[in-house]
Amino acid sequence: TTRGFTVAIDGPAASGKGTISKAVAEHFGFAHLDTGLLYRAVGAKVLLGIEPVAAARALVPEDLDSDALRTPEIAQEASKVAALPEVRAALVDFQRSFAARAGGAVLDGRDIGTVICPAAQVKLFVIADAVVRARRRFAELTEKGIQTTFEDVLADVHARDERDMGRVDAPLRAADDAVEIDTTEMKIADAVAAAVALIEAKRDTGT
Ligand code: CDP
Ligand code: CDP
Repeated sequence: TTRGFTVAIDGPAASGKGTISKAVAEHFGFAHLDTGLLYRAVGAKVLLGIEPVAAARALVPEDLDSDALRTPEIAQEASKVAALPEVRAALVDFQRSFAARAGGAVLDGRDIGTVICPAAQVKLFVIADAVVRARRRFAELTEKGIQTTFEDVLADVHARDERDMGRVDAPLRAADDAVEIDTTEMKIADAVAAAVALIEAKRDTGT
């Protein structure tokens, strides 16, 4: 049974965790939550002048419009509000309820395996070289018509890596029992296949 089966996928910006999460959710019929969208939605409200903790507490599903939230400005603001313990605390219950839904769930973010779902059946920690990640993100933003430079994107990636790894509450790090996938030189299909194989193995043993 896949009831309460949770896959936790963490990693830094543009490591490939979202792509892998979507693909494995589709493969297994699990629900998928991109938890970065929660922090981006709070960041977007803060940029409109709303106080961060109030914004986090008032978040509704309609706020999670993924396309509008994928700008570099919102990403930076998301990383800043994500360092506030009260903002993080306001988002915990929603994420845990999602993880526990019948039929299985995949959550991707920074602290899923360590804080949100420490008992997840499968934990992946997806990494890639920062320059490669910045190249990927630059290509995506350019594709969407967002004006930026590679240098700015690389600086954004470095700044968020440092802030996310350096914060005291729920810093970005691999859980002790996470399996690392380095996508620096991996094709998407190979990274997805590796993740699917790990999940299959856990499902079959029922652990
Ligand atoms: O897609 P990308 O990795 O660039 O960013 P994201 O996953 O949308 O996350 C945006 C920001 O939200 C991150 O830089 C983190 O500061 C924060 N975040 C977090 O603190 N915890 C999570 N579980 C997910 C995101
Ligand atoms: O969710 P996260 O920010 O970790 O990254 P993503 O949105 O899954 O991936 C960022 C970009 O890198 C996307 O355009 C992916 O298609 C690309 N990518 C890649 O080129 N090679 C991989 N092995 C994984 C992702």
